[in-house]
Amino acid sequence: MSSNVFGTLFRLMTFGESHGLEIGAVIDGCPAGMALDAADIQRDLDRRRPGQSRYTTQRREEDRVRIVSGVFEGRTTGTPIGLMIENQDQRARDYNEIKQLFRPGHADWTYWKKYGIRDYRGGGRASARETAMRVAGGAIARKVLRSLGVEIQGCLIAMGPVKIDPNRKNWGEVAQNPFFCPDSESVAKFEELLDRCRSQGDSVGAMLEVVARGVPVGWGEPVYGRLDADLAAGMMGINAVKSVEIGAGSHAAEGFGSQMADEMIPDAEAPEGVRFASNHSGGILGGISNGNEIVVRLAVKPTPSIHSELRTVNTMGLAQIIQTRGRHDPCVGIRAVPVAEAMMALVLVDHYLRHRARAGIFKVLHD
Ligand SMILES: Cc1cc2nc3c(=O)[nH]c(=O)nc-3n(C[C@H](O)[C@H](O)[C@H](O)COP(=O)(O)O)c2cc1C
Repeated sequence: MSSNVFGTLFRLMTFGESHGLEIGAVIDGCPAGMALDAADIQRDLDRRRPGQSRYTTQRREEDRVRIVSGVFEGRTTGTPIGLMIENQDQRARDYNEIKQLFRPGHADWTYWKKYGIRDYRGGGRASARETAMRVAGGAIARKVLRSLGVEIQGCLIAMGPVKIDPNRKNWGEVAQNPFFCPDSESVAKFEELLDRCRSQGDSVGAMLEVVARGVPVGWGEPVYGRLDADLAAGMMGINAVKSVEIGAGSHAAEGFGSQMADEMIPDAEAPEGVRFASNHSGGILGGISNGNEIVVRLAVKPTPSIHSELRTVNTMGLAQIIQTRGRHDPCVGIRAVPVAEAMMALVLVDHYLRHRARAGIFKVLHD
């Protein structure tokens, strides 16, 4: 299996499976000299960790990260940073019953068809357990970005048919509830919806939003390395994500040019002396950041492993009924919020380094 590496100059490689001994990551390209300890990474991992509320999987993982290389006396050395997390709560027996069956909506059947072998315990490499290492790598990316004044924040703006009221959106609320929800009045509705899903053995999808503030004008390579294209690839590469949009997203197709243009106003206080009257472009023009907030939304499908009966086939191709046991999130969109923030951080830090490399040559020639 190839393609386990993400990024061009700031690269994250992950390894490990849902029910293996450990999962890990190697980060290549982190600048030297940055203060870094495990606590910097643990903070973000704790936000993704399972078993924190009754609305996420009850798999008990401490997700305690160890830095095994690339840091000396509390500072990055510029060499590859190795990270490891032990898998603690592996209950492979939960999967014995479905050893010969394929879960509809999961990766079981395509892995089987492609490789002729599959790790039936929790989906093996296809399990979102892997996303813990994205969050770990993303935490390091975030620390680099923070030193540049860039902040990233994600939230959940809809779950199934229940949408937050955008007028009540308050980023300060996100850390106050188990759903990363920015509208306190929607929390009870989400609880009720998830309780209903649980009792019916069902699951539900979600819509997330991630923003980056403080990105300067100029990041992004405008043809095949467009910032928007790389963000879309990063977000779409998260398990269970089915659509990604930037700025106005699919609403752009409904609008007129006069409405969708972000009009430009001279403003000495704004980045590069220009303010935009709106942000339909989501902070990116021609694949390059324009200094506005970068706004990405992603749709996450309902958890495929559900307790309800579904039709499927077995490894002999015969019709079967499957009912997945084990501990699964009723809405994987909740724990996908820190993962989406991490992917935003990984793409942005990579583009920061790419911009610096290219801009450096420009400056040498023209200064
Ligand atoms: C944070 C997170 C946790 C997930 N947890 C589960 C889970 O407990 N059970 C499950 O069936 N799928 C879970 N998924 C979704 C599957 O990993 C995903 O649907 C599967 O790998 C197939 O990939 P695809 O949906 O992108 O096609 C989770 C996804 C994310 C982002």
